[in-house]
Amino acid sequence: MDTRPIGVFDSGLGGLTAVRELQRELPHEHIVYFGDTGRVPYGTRSAETLLEYAGQDSRFLLRQDVKMIIAACGTVSSVAKEVLDELPVPALGVVEPTAKAAAKATKNGRIGVIATAATIRSGAFERALKELGDYEVFTQACPLFVSLVEAGWIDPDDTVTKQVAERYLQPLKEQNIDTLILGCTHFPLLSPIIDSVLGGKVTLVDAGRETACACAEILTAQDALTDRVENGACRFYVSDRPDGFACVAEMFLGRQVEDTVSRVPMAVLTEQEGAL
Ligand code: DGL
Repeated sequence: MDTRPIGVFDSGLGGLTAVRELQRELPHEHIVYFGDTGRVPYGTRSAETLLEYAGQDSRFLLRQDVKMIIAACGTVSSVAKEVLDELPVPALGVVEPTAKAAAKATKNGRIGVIATAATIRSGAFERALKELGDYEVFTQACPLFVSLVEAGWIDPDDTVTKQVAERYLQPLKEQNIDTLILGCTHFPLLSPIIDSVLGGKVTLVDAGRETACACAEILTAQDALTDRVENGACRFYVSDRPDGFACVAEMFLGRQVEDTVSRVPMAVLTEQEGAL
């Protein structure tokens, strides 16, 4: 039994897709979330920069005494996985759990992957799927989706977001995929739009959700769940203005979060010392 919180981080709002599922699966757990909104997007950065950011984000969460860390960020999970492998607590990225779920879901073996440019360039999802079987994989980087989500343009009727989605998804539509990995955790916030552009015929696999389910399995297997009987609390930290984050987070989570969002000065992140 372990009453410490679960730590979750992302470049911004995307990791909330994991938080929403964690709260569903493990309602008694406390969660500490860090969104690096001062440095979003991550998907356009170099591997060197991502290793540095992933280390700083993880170190910040370790200081909050978390029992496990979820990198709810496809980009970090694909490009900076070695940081996660070195952490002194169990850590999980999104690639393996999401690839497994997609392999289970597909019927025709044709799987699409949409993610940030860095994730697509890394080939991480293709490698993970190859280990699971003989699938045809079609990839597409969708970097503008991240900005649209961070700007809060997530309404299913948003015409600009719909047009962007149509342009990005057209090549995948032509490949007769039956399953699509949302390999960036920001993208499930656009699920209704992506689903409608694909004509409701493709199974969408949500990286945040699958990773939260995998986290629940790990903590259960390690007998590290809390014995708290009341619901756990969620505390949010961001590296830029809390109000912008709170506004979109509230839209997505469907509840008030404003009072639980605090800003972490960039210097606190960058000046943390010590090994992971
Ligand atoms: N949500 C992140 C991911 O899953 C990062 C998006 C970004 O910051 O570019 O890749």
